[in-house]
Amino acid sequence: MPQSNHGGAPLRLGLAGLGTVGAGVIALLDANAALVAERAGRPVEVRAVSARDRHRSRGVDLGRFAWVDDSAELARRDDIDVLVELIGGADGPALTLARAALAAGKPLVTANKAMIAHHGLELAAAAEAAGVALRFEAAVAGGIPVIKGLREGAAANRLTDVSGILNGTCNYILTRMAADGLEFADVLADAQALGYAEVDPGFDIDGIDAAHKLAILAAIAFGTRPDIASVEAEGIRDVRLADIRQAADLGHVVRLVGRAAVEDGRLVQQVAPSLVPLAHPLAAIAGPLNAVVAEGDFVGRLTFSGAGAGAGPTASAVVADLIDIARGESGPAFAQATASLASLPPAGAAARTGRFYLRLEVEDRPGVLADLTAILRDARVSIESLVQPAPPAGAPALVAMLTHDTREADVRAAAAAMAALDATRGRPLVMPILPAHAP
Ligand SMILES: NC(=O)c1ccc[n+]([C@@H]2O[C@H](COP(=O)([O-])OP(=O)(O)OC[C@H]3O[C@@H](n4cnc5c(N)ncnc54)[C@H](OP(=O)(O)O)[C@@H]3O)[C@@H](O)[C@H]2O)c1
Repeated sequence: MPQSNHGGAPLRLGLAGLGTVGAGVIALLDANAALVAERAGRPVEVRAVSARDRHRSRGVDLGRFAWVDDSAELARRDDIDVLVELIGGADGPALTLARAALAAGKPLVTANKAMIAHHGLELAAAAEAAGVALRFEAAVAGGIPVIKGLREGAAANRLTDVSGILNGTCNYILTRMAADGLEFADVLADAQALGYAEVDPGFDIDGIDAAHKLAILAAIAFGTRPDIASVEAEGIRDVRLADIRQAADLGHVVRLVGRAAVEDGRLVQQVAPSLVPLAHPLAAIAGPLNAVVAEGDFVGRLTFSGAGAGAGPTASAVVADLIDIARGESGPAFAQATASLASLPPAGAAARTGRFYLRLEVEDRPGVLADLTAILRDARVSIESLVQPAPPAGAPALVAMLTHDTREADVRAAAAAMAALDATRGRPLVMPILPAHAP
């Protein structure tokens, strides 16, 4: 047996939220207590917990911990060194607890992307003022140590682009649509039955969850203030099986991609269903997994992938943060002091350029294609290829186009003009195409 050297005073935790992640953290600390103590240099022990329902069974023994009804009270207890917030929600009790913890000069670990995306700057400044750590590894891509990777491992680089598959529910749905030849609504219903999607799936499938994570990643990658307000997010409700098939014919897969970059002094933050070339590392990410690809000026391309959610992976990230704190590490939450974080103007669609996929459905009659090409000409969008598979008799024709490099605003203007044509059925879909290599 190796000699144990974890004789230090235990790091005493107050844990608020005993759901999937909270119960997972307790289970991990139970299973790996000795290993965690070795690595932390001292035991890491839960002392008090809080949730809504004291009597709910959670699959872990809670009898050994003190219980408090009001989670903010955890911050005021003398027998607690660190607060672990696993309640969720941008505001409400999670934010109250976070503020109370930092005001009391206690470090805070959270998995709460909504709270960090909306209030991360305020909380990081409060942590700095108190000289304590604020850590949120689990908030982005669950078990994948991407925040640590960028904040610490890639700290010496100027990062130019960070792109990720940041929502496992969307990735599961898109992968299943492709694999089983199903439409979005059918897979969503199935995913809900299997527990991969929430009963109220809007946060996931409308891109909001991915937007929260992207805002956090962008701040860490580019030294900018977290700016959730300027993330442009679009979800996957409008992606059709036909789009996935067209993309496959063109050597691409469809993924919900969050992309952040600084271009001409402007901050690009966009979540959108996107065409990913098969040669890009994100194309290989299937099912509920997450991945992040970052481009650094000295390190080159980095790819992080793994489980983006679930009790075990998320607890792994939470406890890694706790081990850092037990070791006395308390560097800045967003990789540099909050006062030095830049505030960049957002790059809207007018400033974003690239190649795009544009699909619409039109009545199959003469003259329609001429109308479409006239719209493209007027919008100054040049087309690399256009496909129009023969529709079944009487059905509208699907027209899919790939553009050359162009301004996104011009493609969107063309799509809006096409939507207004009499012959058009439904809403046209525009998807960015990721370059296979860093731009
Ligand atoms: N689930 C994942 O895989 C995952 C992955 C990454 C990040 N996260 C983040 O982790 C956080 C927790 O997620 P989760 O999936 O574990 O959520 P969850 O299963 O819904 O658990 C939330 C917990 O918070 C408790 N709670 C609610 N209101 C409270 C209050 N006022 N005071 C104290 N406790 C309160 C609930 O108590 P009751 O149990 O008594 O109702 C429940 O135990 C969220 O920020 C989420 O975004 C989750």
